[in-house]
Amino acid sequence: MSKITTTSLLKMKQEGQRITAITAYDATFAKLFDDEGAHVLLIGDSLGMVLQGGQDTLAVNMDEMVYHTRCVARGASKALVVADMPFMSYATSDQTYQNAARLMAAGARMVKMEGGDWLCDSIRHLTRNGVPVCGHLGLTPQSVHVFGGFKVQGRDEFQAQEIYRQALELQAAGIQMLVLECVPVALAERLTKALRIPVIGIGAGPVTDGQILVMHDALGITSGYVPKFTKNFLAETGDIRAAIRLYVQQVSEGTFPGPEHCFN
Ligand code: KIV
Repeated sequence: MSKITTTSLLKMKQEGQRITAITAYDATFAKLFDDEGAHVLLIGDSLGMVLQGGQDTLAVNMDEMVYHTRCVARGASKALVVADMPFMSYATSDQTYQNAARLMAAGARMVKMEGGDWLCDSIRHLTRNGVPVCGHLGLTPQSVHVFGGFKVQGRDEFQAQEIYRQALELQAAGIQMLVLECVPVALAERLTKALRIPVIGIGAGPVTDGQILVMHDALGITSGYVPKFTKNFLAETGDIRAAIRLYVQQVSEGTFPGPEHCFN
């Protein structure tokens, strides 16, 4: 696999080749995932839950994201490294530009922000200044307390239309990839067809251009609540490297996610 760029991800979408993404937080796992063919490594603010033991992602700060981004970037040689902008790190324009620049300097090659059209000015400014942006719609965990819990989004027609509209606006503003989390398969399918950019799903069914999982979920080592959309690939393989190889294989051939991982 040659080095993955925004251009190669776009080409993969155009050619119907599925994209495999996974979260990573350190150099060792980043290297292993990269070796096994993951196309995108996300330093997710999910680290607030899976590394720090929080109930949500809100306590994660920029220094922590910069540290983990630097670690992952050292382990990755081919995969595209994407770093999350944590809660309240992009509430004002100045904050957004400074914080995105810190993540890029730490080795990110794209930053991810949760939310809709209120981010468009920031997205335009970042892309003009050399920072590729990934959007994130559906269940955006930084808004968990607005949603009243980790709930599937876009189930009623009004909400679905709203997510659809927001996605088109984000694309027009310049995002080069979109993460779509916990939405009904029908909405994910409509959006994936409508958007020119790659759509990476998590709890959005097999219809998106690619899949992402939190690495702890893919390895079945998450403690407590296990979301319906995840799969323990370690259980079938008994070996971390083989588990990731199986994840990449099943995403590529379209056998993961199965109907049991989907929402309607
Ligand atoms: O923080 C994270 O790990 C994420 C993924 C679940 C998409 O945003």
